[in-house]
Amino acid sequence: MASVSSSILPMLMVVLMCSHVGGEQGSYHKINIHSLLPSKVCSSFKANFVLNSESASLNFTRLKVTYRHGPCSPLRSHPTPLHEQILDEDRSRVDSLRRRIAAAATSAKLDRQRGSQVGSKIPVRPGSSVSTGNYVVTVGFGTPKTDQTVIFDTGSDITWIQCQPCVAYCYEQQDPIFNPSASSTYANISCSSTYCSDLDTSGCSSSTCIYGVQYGDNSFSIGFFAQDTLTLSTAGVIPKFPFGCGERNRGLFGKAAGLMGLGRGKVSLVTQTYQKYGGVFAYCLPPTSSSTGYLTFGAGYPSSNVKFTPMLTDASAPTFYYLNLMAISVAGQRLPISARVFNDAGTIIDSGTVITRLPPTAYSALRSAFRQAMSSYKMTSALSILDTCYDFTGHSTVSIPKVALQFGGGVTMELDLSGTLYVGNQSKVCLAFAANGDDSDVGILGNVQQKTFNVVYDVSKKVIGFGPGAC
Ligand SMILES: *[C@@H]1O[C@H](CO)[C@@H](O)[C@H](O)[C@H]1NC(C)=O
Ligand SMILES: *[C@@H]1O[C@H](CO)[C@@H](O)[C@H](O)[C@H]1NC(C)=O
Ligand SMILES: *[C@@H]1O[C@H](CO)[C@@H](O)[C@H](O)[C@H]1NC(C)=O
Repeated sequence: MASVSSSILPMLMVVLMCSHVGGEQGSYHKINIHSLLPSKVCSSFKANFVLNSESASLNFTRLKVTYRHGPCSPLRSHPTPLHEQILDEDRSRVDSLRRRIAAAATSAKLDRQRGSQVGSKIPVRPGSSVSTGNYVVTVGFGTPKTDQTVIFDTGSDITWIQCQPCVAYCYEQQDPIFNPSASSTYANISCSSTYCSDLDTSGCSSSTCIYGVQYGDNSFSIGFFAQDTLTLSTAGVIPKFPFGCGERNRGLFGKAAGLMGLGRGKVSLVTQTYQKYGGVFAYCLPPTSSSTGYLTFGAGYPSSNVKFTPMLTDASAPTFYYLNLMAISVAGQRLPISARVFNDAGTIIDSGTVITRLPPTAYSALRSAFRQAMSSYKMTSALSILDTCYDFTGHSTVSIPKVALQFGGGVTMELDLSGTLYVGNQSKVCLAFAANGDDSDVGILGNVQQKTFNVVYDVSKKVIGFGPGAC
């Protein structure tokens, strides 16, 4: 009997999840509590954007996105981290992003002065930390191609994978480690190449360009800066794509083979494929860890209901995608927060930060409105950085106030329920927002809030778009 019920339970949860689609009304999400709980089986629930290679054209391509630790992930054998661990790592990513943005202006100047005289000892420049609360895609490197599952990150530029021979150290990864000598199209990049001077941090070893990236949590990757064929899909083949072939790698990358940099800098995949894809990419992050989303390159993304807000730039932190967050509403009521509060520090959108960070003044207004609307539920202790948590034990349905973010250009992003709450378990369900330390710290639109939206980045038109219900 026990084995029967345990095999039926996951299916039951999938069925229950469907019920929340029709259950939203007015300014509250009314949902069955079970729909919030993660499933252990992978389902393509709500995947209304079917992946198939036939529809790929020469300048549009799409990849399947999965949550790194969920049952759909190719890396799923990695032990699932605790929620506390994911959120603590998220804090360290945000701390390092913040330091990086604050230090950007001065360090950019220093790097230019150092130039290429650094030799093979690389003063690695701090990047952002790689939180484990991230999403992965599988792409092919080399000829013949070998599949590599990488974390995609809009908060960094360089793409790198671990490479053989790992002279000093490689961490354990799921796919076989890429072997450059087995690829007929692999080539080192020379120190005199402009690719090499475009790197934030580069060095030279017998005229071969060396790259180094260090992340805020002491993770790093160092190796040869190289080029090889990158295969995104059957039609999405990028010859001579410059990437880091890492021979010394250490850190919190789980079993991923490396990282795909989707920032705005010169070496990023977005910039390197500009001719083919026009500086356009889009993704949908799935509502649960047990469903799948997509990442597309080129203008063929699903365009219905996408509303665009200006993509802003900070010259001293050119990697990042800034946007203009102007207001927040809870249950249809706009919160009394002065626009100046959001303006002072600005806001970036980041695929690698989990929880949205707000200026403390804005967060405290959001928190008190949310708590008030939730006053009939029992509060419980904090979960790491999340201080507004509820114990839903004994409830079968709950009513959660809708939270909406307003951006420049008259764009309102009414968050999905999955983008409002962080669910530990039935007795620990938290508001998925946190405060920055200071109103002057940059705000971050994190990946929880982006769930189920078609998030479109168009670097040529300098706009960022949001379309609801895309996956
Ligand atoms: C790339 O450079 C390294 C170091 O100089 C060398 O060992 C390796 O053989 C080179 N690979 C190719 C394909 O030139
Ligand atoms: C995509 O390909 C079509 C047909 O070849 C062409 O008209 C269009 O300009 C291309 N778009 C980009 C962004 O290259
Ligand atoms: C629910 O999650 C919290 C936070 O991860 C944990 O401390 C608690 O033990 C869990 N409760 C149950 C019943 O699993």
